[in-house]
Amino acid sequence: MTHTPDPTPWEAQAKALIRRRYAQLATADSFHADARDKARAAGVPLAWFDALPPRIAGVFSGCGWPAGTLKNWNHAIVVDLGCGGGLDTRFAAEQLPADSDVIALDLTPELLARVHDTVSGINGANVRTLAADMERLPLADGVVDVVIANASLNLATDKAAAFTEIARILCPGGCLHAADLIRSGPLPAEILADPMAMASSLGGVVEEAEFRALLARAGFSEIEFTGHRPFGPVFAVDISARK
Ligand SMILES: C[S@@+](CC[C@H](N)C(=O)[O-])C[C@H]1O[C@@H](n2cnc3c(N)ncnc32)[C@H](O)[C@@H]1O
Repeated sequence: MTHTPDPTPWEAQAKALIRRRYAQLATADSFHADARDKARAAGVPLAWFDALPPRIAGVFSGCGWPAGTLKNWNHAIVVDLGCGGGLDTRFAAEQLPADSDVIALDLTPELLARVHDTVSGINGANVRTLAADMERLPLADGVVDVVIANASLNLATDKAAAFTEIARILCPGGCLHAADLIRSGPLPAEILADPMAMASSLGGVVEEAEFRALLARAGFSEIEFTGHRPFGPVFAVDISARK
């Protein structure tokens, strides 16, 4: 495991707010009321989504559908980074054979309890949950084939640390498939300084050039940003990169 510096007081405060916000979503079951509209805009297969019990489908909090990239894998180890209530985890596990593993990883333990409900009774890969911070991953070097991340990378308070950790756990040739947010201009200094803005998925949104540079610095190549689409005041994009 690489050594990542201790979080600054600002980072610790932002992370506490992120954890509190998502714990509230999980315990009060107050996920987005318009989960189906969000899922349709994100490219989630609606026939699959509509066949799920509403309490499970309703956990969707993503901005794309990186789980849709998982096809034709055998014996794969996949990490769903910042898995939330685990809808990508479920789809990934259903796509993969029983000799594969999907590790549903999230900072917020209350959400991992929901993942158990989300994946209950499915056929496919084994699913394990892991409460961890993507900036300090408790996984060995080079053991993961694919990392998927849906709307979670923008919440990393230290993106360089998170991307270095993702590159470290991926095997050579392993892939990151993410959907996340980018912006096309500067944010006001007050937004950048506000840990609550970070927790609400705005303050941590960076420009594409910075995102790309951070991934390259962490050791990724073949970095692609595709499918730019408006998402509130920013853009959602699909990101893929190879170690
Ligand atoms: C917008 S939600 C997306 C959840 C899920 N991927 C989905 O599409 O429904 C972002 C998730 O990232 C998690 N998260 C935020 N910061 C994290 C970190 N540093 N490490 C791991 N997970 C984190 C949050 O707890 C939350 O579940």
